[in-house]
Amino acid sequence: MRIFSGIQPTGAKHLGNYSGGFRQYAATQAEGDAFFCIVDLHSITVDYDPEALRSSTYDLFALLLAAGIDPERSTVFAQSHVTAHSEAAWLLSAVTSYGQLGRMTQFKDKSEQREFVSAGLFTYPILMAGDILLYQTDLVPIGDDQRQHLELARDVAERFNQRFGETFRVPEGRFPEIGARIMDLQEPERKMSTTGGTPQGTVLIADPPQTVRKKIKSAVTDSGRDVRHDRQEKPGVSNLIEIMSVATGESFADIEARYDGAGYGPFKSDVADAVVALLDPIRERYRELRADEQALRRLLASGAEKAREAAAPTLETVYERMGFTRP
Ligand code: TYM
Repeated sequence: MRIFSGIQPTGAKHLGNYSGGFRQYAATQAEGDAFFCIVDLHSITVDYDPEALRSSTYDLFALLLAAGIDPERSTVFAQSHVTAHSEAAWLLSAVTSYGQLGRMTQFKDKSEQREFVSAGLFTYPILMAGDILLYQTDLVPIGDDQRQHLELARDVAERFNQRFGETFRVPEGRFPEIGARIMDLQEPERKMSTTGGTPQGTVLIADPPQTVRKKIKSAVTDSGRDVRHDRQEKPGVSNLIEIMSVATGESFADIEARYDGAGYGPFKSDVADAVVALLDPIRERYRELRADEQALRRLLASGAEKAREAAAPTLETVYERMGFTRP
């Protein structure tokens, strides 16, 4: 089975990325032939700093390894190292609907937030479709916020197959049962995010323990005092229950039972401990791995080589089916 997922190097990585991203990558790599892509080409669709992009690419690579991705077993690479991704984005734009791109909620949200809206922000999902389809992917582990983009990738695959003949496998998404959408701690009706959330409500993987504790203890909770999972009535507490469940693997029922009648204070303090215990070892490994940039560079280069080989036959078929002459 082919597994593919991508993650942007820019923006500090947070607990939401851990839950919908890193945690799933590490778990799914055992199920098949996995490709994890640092999507640096996606990062240029909003304002960014070129120097920061370079170092954050290595930061993210080290973090992926620290979170348990095994570079011997899985292919980890930077999107810009494999030119097939840029080519596929252009070719697939021929079978992507302009109307569907305009309906992407991420585009609508992000374009409202800024004065300059790049064309790349609009065509972003085509690049993402190419990422996935080039590898004949079966399974895409992602968080809930990428659902609509995956749906578009499936539509693109189907339209291409219909128009030019069977070429792409139509991929399925894999969303975690718990923690597919971690919410902002201060505004639990919004997803946790470094672009759309609040700084106080966003727990970064890089945050030191005292910062993690402070953020979790000051999370907004709901009226009443019972620790119960109910996203409608109790969004703040439900989010904390999910976070605890992600960190410890316990079920909601076990967590609810343990804090029955205890109030929010002790509960929050234990959630904070659980998150610190989860992130501490990752941060520690990250520091070690990040210190050796030469080694990271070598590993990324060998990842790119494997990715190029895997993507090339599909790209070639796309050119042929679309009627291009080949050199
Ligand atoms: P990105 O970089 O924004 O996020 C990486 C992963 O983290 C998940 N995630 C969350 N999960 C739970 N709760 C949250 N609050 C939360 N915030 C983020 C995301 O769902 C994602 O799985 N467009 C993609 C990157 C991409 C990609 C791909 C993904 C490019 N090409 C091909 C899969 C396949 C993105 O910007 O993810």
